[in-house]
Amino acid sequence: MIYIKDLPQHEGQVVQLKGWNAQKRDSKGLVFMTFRDGTGFCQAVINQEVVGNDNFEAAKRLPQESSLAITGTVVKDERQVGGYEIQVTELSIIAVAEENYPISPKEHGVDFLMDNRHMWLRSRRQWAIMRVRNSIIYAIHTFFQERGFIEMDAPIFTGNACEGTTNLFETDYYGEPAYLSQSGQLYGEAMAMAQGLIYTFGPTFRAEKSKTRRHLSEFWMIEPEMAFYDLKMDMDVIEAFVQFVVGTVLQKCEAELKVLERDTTFLERVKEPFIRMKYEDAVSVIKAEMPINGRTSLQMLDEEEAALVAAAKAIQADIDEREAKIAGGELKKGEINFNRNKIDQLKNDLKDNAEKQDSVKQWKSSAQNFKRGDDFGGADETVLTKMFGQPVMVYNWPQAVKAFYMKEDDNDLGYAKGVDLLAPEGYGEVVGGGERETDIEKLKRKIVEHELPMEAFEWYLDLRKFGNVPHAGFGLGLERLVAWICGLQHIRETIPFPRSYGRLLP
Ligand code: 4AD
Ligand code: MG
Repeated sequence: MIYIKDLPQHEGQVVQLKGWNAQKRDSKGLVFMTFRDGTGFCQAVINQEVVGNDNFEAAKRLPQESSLAITGTVVKDERQVGGYEIQVTELSIIAVAEENYPISPKEHGVDFLMDNRHMWLRSRRQWAIMRVRNSIIYAIHTFFQERGFIEMDAPIFTGNACEGTTNLFETDYYGEPAYLSQSGQLYGEAMAMAQGLIYTFGPTFRAEKSKTRRHLSEFWMIEPEMAFYDLKMDMDVIEAFVQFVVGTVLQKCEAELKVLERDTTFLERVKEPFIRMKYEDAVSVIKAEMPINGRTSLQMLDEEEAALVAAAKAIQADIDEREAKIAGGELKKGEINFNRNKIDQLKNDLKDNAEKQDSVKQWKSSAQNFKRGDDFGGADETVLTKMFGQPVMVYNWPQAVKAFYMKEDDNDLGYAKGVDLLAPEGYGEVVGGGERETDIEKLKRKIVEHELPMEAFEWYLDLRKFGNVPHAGFGLGLERLVAWICGLQHIRETIPFPRSYGRLLP
């Protein structure tokens, strides 16, 4: 037995594959099956004259997702899924599936697909996303391991809140309250004082009581922590790290990104140096007070809106023209159907266009109304990154909008030496991090200000009493990165079994 991924090495040979019937159609004496084996997809052609009547009839009746073994000759054919075809000489059925496989090639709603996530994972797009996710994970470990970072596993039950108390999941820990970890950072800081360079890679939990395209209740975070690093060195690591991971995936996942129809223009630009700007400057850009390359954010948004309006007009004109043709009564039946289908498509495009216009209007109003000192929302992040088309690192944030552990900038009082990495194309914050406060008195004050229980942080304060050194780190949200690299509309497709508000099954 061999795997579909190895077909290129077996061109012209007779091989055996084991897998599943993902889809099929038949015509006189032939069954064309989209065959999948986990490593890929290929076409299997089952010819009645070759396999005999019994086998052929069995194949013809075989329900979607039945499992089978096929033997046949490998033929290269660029037009087929996966680029190869098996001309089947023998087949043996392993298990005949029930007839009512819930996911058919027709369109399904997302809720339906999510209810059937355990099966949806088999379809080609989901298959490709999970492969990209795997390559990202591998690249992340490679980056840190090759640079001497020690992987550490932070606890999941914790007695202290790292990222504020508003989104904690509380559980009963032998009669005491405990929280599911929001971040491994504080433990990472302890380990960095023992090992120098460390990173965590584990699940984190946040009760986000709303459905958004960027939030999960359970997500995986990668958190490096580096002794003797300052904010500038931290940003250098973020940049090199994201460049490495994106570069590796572009190289290794060409086929998967093709399945996802990902336009990689912006991903290719990740190899250029990232934009770095202070929060106050970023606000000026968002509010159209600071032009970039001679253009303000509002001019950019106006141009985008005008382009959308023009595109909508062109689509409408196309629809009108086709409708007039149909009404003219001179088209054949086939041509009428063709035009009707095309009109349906165009109407969908119009709907998309209208949604995009709404978004631009929203971005405009949110940019104009942004209050200096506030945290960024998704719209603000989108406007800012649209000005560059590149990842942007925003640093030196007002202390009030950042966590208690962020170091205050001695040269810029009131500002925290924190940094967010914003991904382009509307993906927004993928990394949050910064330099850690080393002044124990300031830390204690911040713990009080944030209304956190001091006793839960005594152990953390010990890190400042014994062997206190400047240090920095960051957290990358794995699913946000997967969504961006794959170009997905929604974070729920980035993880095998998403956990978000209102979803616990399957
Ligand atoms: O910005 P955050 O809250 O930072 C921390 O947790 C720090 N302790 C990290 C550190 O310095 N060690 O979260 C880090 C990243 C975000 O940038 C985002 O990518 C992701 O975690 N993230 C989420 N991803 C999915 N769903 C959610 N609800 C997320 N909340 C944060
Ligand atoms: Mg953040």
